[in-house]
Amino acid sequence: MRSYSLIAPAKINLYLEILGDRADGYHELAMILQSIELADQVNIRAIGTQTIQVHCDHPQVPRDETNLAYRAVELMSQEFPDCWAQFGGVEVTIQKNIPVAAGLAGGSTNAAAVLVGLDMLWQLGLTQPELQELAAKLGSDVPFCLAGGTAIATGRGEELDPLPSLDSFYVVLAKHQNLAVSTAWAYQTYRSEFGNSYRRSDLASKSIATEPLNTPTRVHSGSMVQGIINKNGSKIGQLLYNDLEKVVLPNYPQVLQLRQAFENSGALGTMMSGSGPTVFALCQSQEQAQEILQQVQSAIRCPDLGFWVSKFTSHGIQIISPQKSLFIGNRE
Ligand code: C5P
Repeated sequence: MRSYSLIAPAKINLYLEILGDRADGYHELAMILQSIELADQVNIRAIGTQTIQVHCDHPQVPRDETNLAYRAVELMSQEFPDCWAQFGGVEVTIQKNIPVAAGLAGGSTNAAAVLVGLDMLWQLGLTQPELQELAAKLGSDVPFCLAGGTAIATGRGEELDPLPSLDSFYVVLAKHQNLAVSTAWAYQTYRSEFGNSYRRSDLASKSIATEPLNTPTRVHSGSMVQGIINKNGSKIGQLLYNDLEKVVLPNYPQVLQLRQAFENSGALGTMMSGSGPTVFALCQSQEQAQEILQQVQSAIRCPDLGFWVSKFTSHGIQIISPQKSLFIGNRE
């Protein structure tokens, strides 16, 4: 039976602005997304029976259709019924390194890996736009996870414009292991508390790369894009932004405490990623990241608090060779 191993990187949000409501019930967003090296490994294998099997070494990851990786197989089997009939079922094994329910798109990146893996396994030869279209059916973050790197994301988050890569920066990530924030809750709460401040839909720009939108008090993505083009860490750090902090920080004191500790740490900047609860600090080097980690760890002495240091990457989903896959397997 053939199999493929894939690397599925996490993402952070350097910028997340909620522009307004959409007819489909989602929110119109302007985001800047960044892939980081912290990644899961996803192994995908054809099995003889017409079933979908998901295995994962992390107890909080579901094995059924509530797992986006499972739904990715289901979607592919519906889109390509002949392949499903010809090649049989699929086994997906996820080695979890990305914290779960963390605002780092762990589930989305696993689903993106399944799409790429099945494209290989079933020899479909799908183009990047075809894969992106399938990814958008699974979730707002899945298209970015597929492509990776640094990108502006608009619409629900699925419309991507790539930006120059920022490979040299590091982040410290921190998350209370037993804390989870529901993305749906965060957006709904934002709508009920701040819905009256939404921009009119006719003002919502499709591109934030060239022109900042015309409410300068709230929108600074144009300057952020400039900072990214110039690889100016201080500027990027100052302009980190996330509207969802307005609802998550007041409701989750532990996240607020983390955010404040990072604010005083001397990092280039700090922000919550996505709907949280992960908070990250942007750093110029690995050494700075390690120093900041130790500083915040000793400021908040909590056994439940997990820390990770990771580097920015320009990669999305990557297929790895058998040798490399063996190395990663042995590393655990
Ligand atoms: O697309 P995804 O399934 O990742 O979104 C999770 C939830 O986040 C949605 O059910 C919705 O409540 C909220 N969301 C939103 N607007 C977006 C993206 C997500 O309201 N652009």
